[in-house]
Amino acid sequence: MAVMFVAIVALLVVAPRAAGYPWPVCGSTGSFAANDSTYLASINSMAATLPRNASTSPGLYATAHAGQVWALALCRGDANATSCSGCLSQGFQDLPSACAYSKEATMYYDTCFLHYSNLQLSASDDTAFSSAFKLPYSANATDEPARFDRVVAALLNATADYAAYNSSGSRLYASGVVSLDQEFPEMYSWAQCTPDLTRARCGDCLASTIQAMGRPLYSVGARVLGIRCGIRYESRPFLDGPVMVRVAAGSGDPSPAPAPSPTPAPAPAPALVPSAVTPLPAVGEGRKYSVPGMVLIIGLAALAAANLIAIFFIWRRRQRSAVQVKQPCIYVISSPIYAINFSLKYAN
Ligand SMILES: *[C@@H]1O[C@H](CO)[C@@H](O)[C@H](O)[C@H]1NC(C)=O
Ligand SMILES: *[C@@H]1O[C@H](CO)[C@@H](O)[C@H](O)[C@H]1NC(C)=O
Ligand SMILES: *[C@@H]1O[C@H](CO)[C@@H](O)[C@H](O)[C@H]1NC(C)=O
Ligand SMILES: *[C@@H]1O[C@H](CO)[C@@H](O)[C@H](O)[C@H]1NC(C)=O
Ligand SMILES: *[C@@H]1O[C@H](CO)[C@@H](O)[C@H](O)[C@H]1NC(C)=O
Ligand SMILES: *[C@@H]1O[C@H](CO)[C@@H](O)[C@H](O)[C@H]1NC(C)=O
Repeated sequence: MAVMFVAIVALLVVAPRAAGYPWPVCGSTGSFAANDSTYLASINSMAATLPRNASTSPGLYATAHAGQVWALALCRGDANATSCSGCLSQGFQDLPSACAYSKEATMYYDTCFLHYSNLQLSASDDTAFSSAFKLPYSANATDEPARFDRVVAALLNATADYAAYNSSGSRLYASGVVSLDQEFPEMYSWAQCTPDLTRARCGDCLASTIQAMGRPLYSVGARVLGIRCGIRYESRPFLDGPVMVRVAAGSGDPSPAPAPSPTPAPAPAPALVPSAVTPLPAVGEGRKYSVPGMVLIIGLAALAAANLIAIFFIWRRRQRSAVQVKQPCIYVISSPIYAINFSLKYAN
């Protein structure tokens, strides 16, 4: 059995596949038979109101409790109420069957995620995101890889800091952009925490996701998604709202940027970037960032969740034909799926 498991993991590492969207993470706190009608009834009893409650709250965030089930729902900070509640309703439809044997389960979409568990998350101060995982694009930046790494790292850092320390408070959320080079005229970013975290805990949580991204950053886009915070960068303009952080192009360069020389006309957009790139209005002040030290004190619990990988793999096998990739971008599940385990704290 152990040998077989190793073989499965090796396969996952050697032959990463396009990951199906949306992304379920079927969890670790025990399982229930698919026919456990009580547990399912509790989940379904929240389906009617939790999406509406979250989408009408200032933070696009809500928690709920029914029977033995605790649920948590968050929409992306730039989602409108319609897309927020629609996304979460979809979650209630998809998740129980995607994770048919898990009491704890999370489904990540572009616009929202839905999480439920038989354990109650403590409300105010944990940064636990046991089900966090990393999703990089398979394609790499090739023109200026070293600069790509520095500038994107500065973008992620600035976006995370803004989300944690400069956002409105009701939404611990930020979006960012930086102009990079001809290969990637613009890189966009997103960072968000659940709004019940303190700013400091949000900052810690996001710093951990940045560490989990690893260095150097070479994928043309990637996400690290967890239930307490998440971060993402993309070469295409995926944001639905205004850009909050405009990072100076020289950010991350080893020495102060020289006086701008005449810039060449932007090259034709690479394949991943839609040709119709709509400029996003800038809101707030741009910030300059110096080289982040980026000390990799990775609290990355190395591949903790063997069962998570196995369950996910089994789920993938079962769903491979059923789940369609609903977006044009090809993600690979990073090898391996990063299970990030920060001081997992439950209220009971
Ligand atoms: C659920 O399924 C299991 C295994 O198929 C069975 O043993 C059990 O009796 C079922 N429970 C109910 C409530 O139907
Ligand atoms: C939604 O909000 C209403 C009013 O605050 C509350 O009564 C209800 O329990 C909430 N629904 C859930 C699933 O928490
Ligand atoms: C809400 O957002 C979605 C997705 O961005 C968009 O298609 C829709 O038109 C928006 N609806 C409203 C009422 O703004
Ligand atoms: C991307 O770069 C990484 C690290 O250098 C490498 O392992 C991987 O094979 C590259 N992927 C592609 C598609 O070139
Ligand atoms: C963000 O907040 C920090 C600390 O509160 C402050 O020093 C900084 O000026 C703010 N930056 C922006 C762009 O508002
Ligand atoms: C961003 O970089 C600064 C300076 O290196 C660092 O103090 C801060 O913790 C970083 N923020 C995050 C969220 O990593």
